[in-house]
Amino acid sequence: MQGISTCDESDAAPIPVMPPRPQHPLPTLAFLKAIASNSLSACDEELFDKLIVKRRYLLQRVFFVSDPEAIKRVFLDNVENYPRYRYIRRLFQAGLGTGSLGTEGETWWRHRRIAAPAIDHRAIMPDIAAMIGVSEELAGQLETIGGDRVVDLEMVIGNLLIAVWNEVVTGGDPVAVPMLNRLAKYPRKPRLADFTALGPWLDPLRPLQARRGKIAAFDDLLYRLIDARRDEKYPGRRDLIWRLLRQQDRKTGENLTRTEVRDEAASVIAGGVSPTIRALTWIWYLLAEHPEVEARLHAEVDAVLQGQPPVAGQLAQLTYTRRVIDETMRLYPPIPGILREAVAADELCGHRVPPRSIIAILPWVVHRHRRLWRDPDRFDPDRFSPENTAARPRFAYVPFAAGPRICVGASFAMTQMLIVVAILARRFRFRLASGHPVRPVGHISLHPQGGLQVIVERRAAVGSARAGAAPSNLSLSQA
Ligand code: HEM
Repeated sequence: MQGISTCDESDAAPIPVMPPRPQHPLPTLAFLKAIASNSLSACDEELFDKLIVKRRYLLQRVFFVSDPEAIKRVFLDNVENYPRYRYIRRLFQAGLGTGSLGTEGETWWRHRRIAAPAIDHRAIMPDIAAMIGVSEELAGQLETIGGDRVVDLEMVIGNLLIAVWNEVVTGGDPVAVPMLNRLAKYPRKPRLADFTALGPWLDPLRPLQARRGKIAAFDDLLYRLIDARRDEKYPGRRDLIWRLLRQQDRKTGENLTRTEVRDEAASVIAGGVSPTIRALTWIWYLLAEHPEVEARLHAEVDAVLQGQPPVAGQLAQLTYTRRVIDETMRLYPPIPGILREAVAADELCGHRVPPRSIIAILPWVVHRHRRLWRDPDRFDPDRFSPENTAARPRFAYVPFAAGPRICVGASFAMTQMLIVVAILARRFRFRLASGHPVRPVGHISLHPQGGLQVIVERRAAVGSARAGAAPSNLSLSQA
């Protein structure tokens, strides 16, 4: 099961940052505290050595599952037995109602059957030109930054992606930008009690409005956008909201109701923006630390784009760029932990799993597991060459989960990442700003604490033609 890696040239490169690992399992209280402050720091050495680890915290049984066979059983073969862990689902349900992030059973299936074709590769194709256009325009603003000015690249990418999403969700209606920004931050950072049965008991102490977070303030706007598109003569683009309204359930022929469209649109935005920003931020950290990988990526981007903005048909040619993206999500999986709960007793690779056990599939652990990857903490995009990928078990790499509940936006996410990496790499390189150590922190997503502070350098050789004047200072300021 040993993964294949080709680390020769990167042996001298620094090991990408990670929090210290406890040598031994933490006692329950320390473990729970670590989960609340930085879930990555709760993962002890044993988890990276054994493929299935069984623990008990308070009265709760938890299985840490990294065995690809067992992951397959949970995500695919016996998926009905492993719904999302109820207390995590609760966090999403308050604000997203029937949206697919917070539901199970027939409601979830109905939403999934409608949302998937509204976001899949074919549906997104007509949006790609607009995604490229707005990314080029905002990337142009970075050209105005000179000298040693330090910029938070995570924030720049966040603002750029909100503009990209707005093209897809509303056809580029500027009134929607604050709504997208707010939804992208939903739900709030979970508290310790949210992971336990205490959560629902504490709910009555916080009014529903508070639990729904500030997204309720945007309901009127979201409904206005939906209602405009219900008109048969709606003159705008066939954007995501339009598609969610019109898409029929292939099983029943029914459409989502007005409220369900609101919930699903909110769910897709809440589920999709933040992890894509995370992945796109970590890429530049890794490239800055690995000049030989950066040089290969630049060479590919230059050869494919020939100094011009990308067009849709070129994205598939960026094969090395795709490897860099895959390897980035291996080392820094944007969603570092996926929790399921056993409904009935089951067996995972010879381990008896009693009902109500929590199943923790942690991409942070699975992707760095010593029994699955050679030299797992090193950055080596060639792990994702076709030969190396074929030599590895499919379920050793699960940044988007897998099975019927696999991320519904995986293909859209990859398209966005290829576009933004190509556009930025064509014109810029980013150096890490000294005095700003990078520290990975895991909550619902995995991000560099305090952002990623960089110095922007223009690449002199190719492609520095500006793509029109930038409309505002959107990409450099907090939205
Ligand atoms: C790099 C970017 C992304 C990563 C790593 C990622 C990862 C994931 C993962 C691991 C899950 C499963 C969570 C679980 O079952 O507990 C998930 C679900 C989901 N993601 Fe993504 N995601 C990304 C981008 C997106 C995008 C772009 C969208 C929207 C178009 C999106 C929408 C969703 C939704 C709605 C779900 C729930 C699906 C369901 O339960 O049927 N994600 N994502």
